[in-house]
Amino acid sequence: MSTTAASAAADLGELVDASHVLVCCGTGGVGKTTTAAALAVEAARRGRRVVVITIDPARRLADTLGLAGAGDHVVDRRLWDPESVAPETGRLTALMLDTSETFDGLVARYAKSEEQRDRILANRFYRNLAGALSGTQEYMAMERLHELHETGDHDLIVVDTPPSRHALDFLDAPQRLIRLLDNRVFRVMMAPARGAMRIATAALHTFVRQVGRVVGTGVVDDIISFFRAFDGMEEGFRARADAVRTLLAEDSTAFVLVTSPRRDSIDEAIYFAEQIATHGLTIDGLVANRVHPEFADPTDGPRLRARAAELRATGDTGEPDADAARRRLADRYETVADLADLAARERTVLAEVAAHMGTRAVYVPFLDHDVHDLRALHEVGRHLVG
Ligand SMILES: Nc1ncnc2c1ncn2[C@@H]1O[C@H](COP(=O)(O)OP(=O)(O)O)[C@@H](O)[C@H]1O
Ligand SMILES: [Mg+2]
Repeated sequence: MSTTAASAAADLGELVDASHVLVCCGTGGVGKTTTAAALAVEAARRGRRVVVITIDPARRLADTLGLAGAGDHVVDRRLWDPESVAPETGRLTALMLDTSETFDGLVARYAKSEEQRDRILANRFYRNLAGALSGTQEYMAMERLHELHETGDHDLIVVDTPPSRHALDFLDAPQRLIRLLDNRVFRVMMAPARGAMRIATAALHTFVRQVGRVVGTGVVDDIISFFRAFDGMEEGFRARADAVRTLLAEDSTAFVLVTSPRRDSIDEAIYFAEQIATHGLTIDGLVANRVHPEFADPTDGPRLRARAAELRATGDTGEPDADAARRRLADRYETVADLADLAARERTVLAEVAAHMGTRAVYVPFLDHDVHDLRALHEVGRHLVG
């Protein structure tokens, strides 16, 4: 959401009910894909038509959601609503981002003619560039978001983000492509040589010839003809980049930041939130995933420790087995007290971090199993939306 609407909508249930786009972000391995899928399941169970864009889901999760190939796939409602309690309107669609095929597809879609398409696809420079671009899952995720938004078929689009080194690459990706196409050197080369421009162009061509001597004239020619071939198409790319930017800044778009309770992960989350802020956006929810389970009462730690001390203080009875058993029991009390303290400490730190971001933390405990089927997703989902 934009900062102007910083309503601190910390309740994920509210976000799931009211948002149009939910972006799950955070560093790799913290549980972004799991969170995205679980939020989507809950949204469907609450009667919304939801689509989740997943990236690199664990193999078994992909199988569960029926993500065998490319394209979207409506998940059988008996899987996410086995008790048949969800409103009729609910629908869960899932898709896996396939980054290998897509860039050529984009060129084909936005080319003004078949001739232009073929010229670009055959260009050697493009072939190299496409290799690099198709690796940018960030760009494709935003393309897909835009596309799904345009169809108008979904009430909610949940976006999983790639495990990128630079946490916010997905926000910048469309802009980066535009910058490449905007590159002034190429603009000048493509411009018809007229008047004063002729001199500049002539100078540039001398420069290009010299560069050509180093990298090979073929390479330079390829690059020039690539940008010529692209002529007229960049408008489409630019328009979509702007549309994506606008969509991400909408009040109905929410960012959910996922973190683990580990110090390094929390530091990254804080850094991430700061970067988000520089884009004029805010974090709307913080998911603390894989926290230690909470005990009934936050004062359990001291109480359990007191009980252990009590047991140790009891004098030996002279009955060796009974005495050993009592000491072991005191040890157990202390172990549980340690866990209770740890869980409480994690929550204190995470609550502070969330408050600093202007939101609230939602806790998902470390489960004793992976989250690869719909039952497990719903279990995570219950922790997320309450
Ligand atoms: N709360 C949890 N308890 C147990 N396992 C979890 C939990 N959250 C995620 N996992 C498991 O951890 C692994 C990584 O999660 P994933 O969502 O793929 O992370 P990311 O998308 O951030 O890289 C998956 O195998 C997932 O099932
Ligand atoms: Mg993932």
